[in-house]
Amino acid sequence: MKKIMAVLLAAALVFPCFAAKKKGTKVGVSMPTKDLQRWNQDGANMKAQLEKAGYTVDLQYANNDIATQVSQIENMVTSKCKVLVIASIDGSALKGVLDQARKKKIPVIAYDRLIMNSKAVSYYATFDNYKVGTIQGDYLVDKLNLKSRSKDDPAYIEFFTGSPDDNNINFFFGGAMDTLKPYLDKGVLVCRSGQTSKAQCATLNWSTEEAQKRMENLITSNKYGPKGTKLDAVYSSNDSCAMGITNALKAAGYTKANFPIITGQDCDIGSVKNMLAGTQAMSIFKDTRTLATKVVGMVDALMKGTKPEINDTKTYDNGTGIIPSYLCEPVYGDIDNYKALLIDSGYYTEAQLK
Ligand code: BGC
Repeated sequence: MKKIMAVLLAAALVFPCFAAKKKGTKVGVSMPTKDLQRWNQDGANMKAQLEKAGYTVDLQYANNDIATQVSQIENMVTSKCKVLVIASIDGSALKGVLDQARKKKIPVIAYDRLIMNSKAVSYYATFDNYKVGTIQGDYLVDKLNLKSRSKDDPAYIEFFTGSPDDNNINFFFGGAMDTLKPYLDKGVLVCRSGQTSKAQCATLNWSTEEAQKRMENLITSNKYGPKGTKLDAVYSSNDSCAMGITNALKAAGYTKANFPIITGQDCDIGSVKNMLAGTQAMSIFKDTRTLATKVVGMVDALMKGTKPEINDTKTYDNGTGIIPSYLCEPVYGDIDNYKALLIDSGYYTEAQLK
């Protein structure tokens, strides 16, 4: 008993010192934009969890502007941040500013998106991005009955992915295409526009407006419509693109009764509402609280001089070598499981989805 008391007393004495020591430790968190819901959540979660752990946080959003992000990171370096956590806009545009961080031995954690061609990147924390793509692909295989379909009655699809400067699209689009290509090859899945390459399907800045425009063009050139040419599904890598696609399809006259199956990612509130309204079919749920917890764990380990937890040492090569990574698990959400996934878990309130 005495021993336990002594240990507890020692811990109580040590802990305040440790917390006090961390209090002055500043962490720079650089997020791409406030425009998309997920980055607001990511930023807020990171800030809250880091502050709870005793850190001071410099959280910046770069308005999807590369020069802004570079100058915000420059400020973080000169204002003595001890660790940088960065979700890049253009994964290949940060080498210069990160060289400055490297010179000052400031570790860099790439957040969600890999930062390319920079030796400054120490760790990467993200979701299993390839799995995001295969889950989306498998969902379409299942809902379009591709396994039992014949060539005489193919399903028709168009493809959308995200920003060409985001390394993640190689994994999202790659995973989805690896899953769907056998069916395209067999002719049981048909893309009438023939636009199936990553470059043809990319959407700069993951812009809703860009995705909407391209979907409108596809509708016009292929005469898609509830009374026109058949369109069974649209593969979309995420929700901001799915939103634009949905807007275009609604304007072309599709309703809940005949809406093509649309995939997405992030479970943005707008997309979950569309799921409930019977337009978008599914979205990948990536619990940003989990990602934030993992990254805070990494920051803490780096500051204590211990090794951060990782679970992948072979997938993510940023051009300078493999970056040790922690991959969180993505899952899918749809009308059947959204309650348990999003509401019971406390991610959203019922009222937010009304
Ligand atoms: C993220 C997605 C997000 C997209 C657009 C990607 O890098 O992984 O979750 O939908 O960027 O912001």
